[in-house]
This record gives sequence, structure tokens and C-alpha cells, in this order.
Amino acid sequence: MHDDSAAWYLPEHLTHLYYSPVYATLTPVQRRVYNRLHACYLCEMCAFLEGELPRYYLQAASAPNIPKHLLAQAQALSDSEKRHASMFRALARRLSPGLYCEDEYILVRPPSLPALMVRTLFNLPALRPMLLWIALIQEERGVYYGEEILRQAEHLDPAMVEVQRKHLADEEEHLGFGEALLPSYWDACRPWVRRLNARLFRYVLREYLGAPKRAGVRLIHIWVKECPDLETRKSELVDAMRALDRNPGFHRSLYSRKIVPKTFDLFDRYSEFCDLGKSVWGYSPEVNG
Ligand SMILES: [Fe+2]
Ligand SMILES: [Fe+2]
Repeated sequence: MHDDSAAWYLPEHLTHLYYSPVYATLTPVQRRVYNRLHACYLCEMCAFLEGELPRYYLQAASAPNIPKHLLAQAQALSDSEKRHASMFRALARRLSPGLYCEDEYILVRPPSLPALMVRTLFNLPALRPMLLWIALIQEERGVYYGEEILRQAEHLDPAMVEVQRKHLADEEEHLGFGEALLPSYWDACRPWVRRLNARLFRYVLREYLGAPKRAGVRLIHIWVKECPDLETRKSELVDAMRALDRNPGFHRSLYSRKIVPKTFDLFDRYSEFCDLGKSVWGYSPEVNG
């Protein structure tokens, strides 16, 4: 069982509420419980994305204009992401054993009907390029998170550090693969497909991979159960979580040129992403050369 009076699981600047004024009003134990639950959220998010996205890499790498060696790399990537997804699920269970007795996903829980519709939609080839961008930006963000965790390893839970160390060993290669695949794939798409996918990318990043919405509220309900002294502040905490969507510092903590430089460099090449900064506040196009 974890001792929340002593352990940290993530550097605080990688957690959402760290960017809210409410964070300064929490006790050390309340912060540590939040830190552990946020670590579970992160594990679930990684397990979900790493379980879902590689199939689209495989489909894209099978396209006729893509160099053949990338298909073998996509297969290797897909195999290693399966291992990573189960590693992250096991870590979440280890951090909060009581949470995961019946379900693998507690915080990241897409409602079943929309999730089914989304999966059906993404079987349409015209919508796949967007998923490759999602995969790339999340891979690069995952590398940044892993590096930040290793940088502060001596202050963090050893199980979290060990998982991140193993994960990082594979991820640099994945990032190189995504960087090699995306430009060829994107360049071959028709202009309307690119415009549509850039708009969808903006929407998905803002709605599902930006400021916490549904998962953030679920986390607060669990947090308050574990820290009953927060019960009277529940709605204040929910409001604080929702207010992050209007907080520029918080947005920059999710996606910025420091966190995802390679993906941002690629956006700079394509006019379809010139107004991405309206949703992804940490991005503004840079003119190269
Ligand atoms: Fe991974
Ligand atoms: Fe990866």
C-alpha cells in the first residue's frame, strides 16, 4: 500500500491542478493523493492511446507510396506499444490497487456509444491522417514526460521511474518512425483531406487531449473519497479544474515548442495548421529559413 504522506509519483509541474490557484491551498497529503491519482490518469491515457493508435500506423505504412522498410518498423512499433500498454495498466493498478478491481479504465472512460462511433468513423481512410498527427504529438509528449520523470527520479516513486525508463528506451525510435512516415503520408493526401484532418486534429486535441473535462471531474470524485476533508470543497475543485481551459500557463504545460519541438516543426511546414494556435495555445507558427 502506498504511503501518501511520503511519496511523489510525478513532478508536480506535470499535473493539471498545479497550474490552478487552488493548488496553493491544499495540504501536503492532499497534494500527494492528487499526484498519485493524476499518475493513474496518465497511465490510463498512455495505455489507451498506445493500445488504440498503432493500428493506424500499420494501415498508413501499408500505403503504396510509403517506403517498404517503414512497414517493418510499424510492426515493431505496434508490438512494443502492446507491451507498453500492459505495463502502464499494471503500474496504475500498483499505484491505486483499490481503484482497479473490476475495470482497466476508471478515469479515462469514453462513453461506449460515442467511442464506438468514433472507432467506426476512423475506419474511413480519409480521417486517418489526423490520427497519425495525434500519435506523433502524443509520442513526443510521452518522451518529454519520461525525461522529466527521470530528471527528478530521486524524488519519485521507484516503480514509476522504472516504467518510464523502460518506456523511454523504445520511444525515441517510435518518434523517428512517426517523423519519417508523416510527411510522405501527408504530402500524398488531397488538399481537402488535409484541411479536414487539420480541423479535426484541432478539435480532438482540444476536446479530448487538452484541458481535463470528464476525466478531471471523475478524478476529483475519487480524490474527495480518499481525502474526506475535501468534501466541502468538491464543487470549488471541479470549478478550478474546468477553469484550466482558460489558463494560458496550463495550456503551455500541455503542448509547447519545448515539449513537442519536432511535431511543431512539422506543423510549421503546412499551411493547414497555421491557425492551430486558436485551440492549442502553446503553438504559434514559426517561419523557417
Ligand atoms: Fe509507448
Ligand atoms: Fe511509442
